[in-house]
Amino acid sequence: MPGRAPLARWLNDTNDVTQTFLAAGQLPDLVNLAGGLPDPSTWPVSDLSDFAGRVVTEHTAEVLGYSPIDGLPDLRDRIAAEFSHGDLNLTRDNVLITTGGMQGLDLLGKVFLDPGQTIAAQSPAYLGAIDAWKPRAPQYRAMVMETNDFDAEAAMTGAQFAYTVPNFSNPSGRLVPEDQRRALVAAAEATGCWLVEDDPYGHLYYDGAPLPRMLELSANGAEVYNGPVVYLGTFSKQLAPGLRVGWVIAAPEIIVALTTAKQGSDMFTSGLCQRVALEAMERGLPEQLLPGILDLYRTRRDALCEAMQADLSDLFTWQVPEGGMFVWAVARDPALDTDRLMKTGLEHGVCISPSSVFDPMGQDRRAIRVNFTLNPPDVLAEGIRRLARATRAELRQAA
Ligand SMILES: Cc1ncc(COP(=O)(O)O)c(C=O)c1O
Repeated sequence: MPGRAPLARWLNDTNDVTQTFLAAGQLPDLVNLAGGLPDPSTWPVSDLSDFAGRVVTEHTAEVLGYSPIDGLPDLRDRIAAEFSHGDLNLTRDNVLITTGGMQGLDLLGKVFLDPGQTIAAQSPAYLGAIDAWKPRAPQYRAMVMETNDFDAEAAMTGAQFAYTVPNFSNPSGRLVPEDQRRALVAAAEATGCWLVEDDPYGHLYYDGAPLPRMLELSANGAEVYNGPVVYLGTFSKQLAPGLRVGWVIAAPEIIVALTTAKQGSDMFTSGLCQRVALEAMERGLPEQLLPGILDLYRTRRDALCEAMQADLSDLFTWQVPEGGMFVWAVARDPALDTDRLMKTGLEHGVCISPSSVFDPMGQDRRAIRVNFTLNPPDVLAEGIRRLARATRAELRQAA
């Protein structure tokens, strides 16, 4: 009897960190600093249940029936209007509704990548994006943008697209400054490389005023936007991740291609969830929620950074992020292997994300990502004390 057919090869290309995360969820009394989750207290439960109840009866066909692949026209119009600004003119043809931001990433892989083609990716890179593109077997070129000699044009030449998270990157928390945003847009124009602006954290500015989106910087006043930026948005961090409503804004030809890809993925995003998201937008719910979310997360960011300053400053270096959900901490001692630290951390009752999972090659072992949005200040402080003990134990082992 022949053996069963093997699974696709890309499935072998994983490390065991994700398995360890999943198992860690079961440990009692664990301080979880590893995830990237919003605090459930920010979810507008009664508004969303009210909208859901109402739209089922008021928009029954749209909500319970099959609906258009590219999204509800009213929601596409609303997003086009919200993002149109100055020289940026958007219509419904510039907008595709996706099942979360994550589906946008998956569809980009489907439409832009043949096996072996190159992605220029901001380094370190979002784990979910690396996972989404793995079946396409891309080559990666790392864009290390913190250095003074970063050359956007050299990085993007020959790549299919450049992947960036300019607002408070997941995982590094870095805010890409305006001059670098302009340089990336200019490089996209010069090289023909598409420029992906993945922006789930664009509303989470705790200290300063928001910088212009690259989508805006690439607009030239055309009646219908036709530039090189492919912008990904989501309601996951503004309303609730369980809604699974996101969107892509791009040139119409890209929206058509992504729609073809979406047809073969999930046909359409839940009409119920789209209608609920549209109701929320029409009532200004994201704007009403934002000040409370900013206060909560700013306090937690400050609490985490104070705790790190007290207990970790001889072990790691980091920059206080001006927004988002993460602090990226780099080990002072190059002998520290953060994959091992993650496991030792679990023995001490704390879970962090090691840098290897944010490196498409899985090699980077020198840093960790620490989340501050999910836990209150006292839990964050306890987590950091445990992490300090785990790091010292790990360094003793390594010596
Ligand atoms: C950089 C980045 N992109 C995309 C996503 C996907 O978000 P969602 O699918 O929940 O909209 C996330 C979620 O954490 C993220 O951090």
